[in-house]
Amino acid sequence: MAYPGFYIVFEGGDGVGKSTQIDLLAEHLRSAGGGSHTVVTTREPGGTDLGRELREAVMHGDHVDPRAEALLYAADRAHHVGTLVRPALERGDVVVQDRYVDSSIVYQGGARGLGDEVERISRWATEGLLPDLTIVLDTAPIAGRMDRDLDRLERETAEHSVQIRQAYLDLAARAPERYAVINAARTVEDVAADVRVATTAALGMRS
Ligand code: TYD
Repeated sequence: MAYPGFYIVFEGGDGVGKSTQIDLLAEHLRSAGGGSHTVVTTREPGGTDLGRELREAVMHGDHVDPRAEALLYAADRAHHVGTLVRPALERGDVVVQDRYVDSSIVYQGGARGLGDEVERISRWATEGLLPDLTIVLDTAPIAGRMDRDLDRLERETAEHSVQIRQAYLDLAARAPERYAVINAARTVEDVAADVRVATTAALGMRS
């Protein structure tokens, strides 16, 4: 182990409830019952001051060329890992983060069609830092909605979410010892309970 801290990342499609679950897990880990850890919550893009500017640039501008978009996420990530995440892990903190390299693999590599190079760029940006645990909040894309009463844009969005979900499941299957896939189509409390179980198990394996 290269550092005394513990690195947890939440991934999943848009609107699956990552931020709610991150807050609940952080609260649990800080409590006596959760081990009284020092917890840092953060996110990509936008976990640092520079990152917030990069987030504005990538998310609120006009059309961004896909390669420029991939590099902006990578720049945010390099600065975030170098200045915030690694120092926290080296202090021994638990870092709980919204999105990381897998988001780039899934969104830029998969959905935008940039392929494996995106993963290489992110690995370079982070000097290969891997999460100890990645929690994928999984929901079936808008069930039963892929029918003919969707207009073209709605259909594209629905197809996109099928692809994004599958890409996350494929990543989890590639390294099951570092992933927990949790059914997020349930109550906040049920999902949070499973998140706690997965985290406790992963922390237990580390100690
Ligand atoms: P986020 O702020 O987590 O919002 P959401 O609540 O929709 O999850 O993410 C913002 C968007 O940024 C999301 O649509 C995914 C996208 N994204 C990428 O495309 N690549 C990346 O590397 C990251 C970190 C995010």
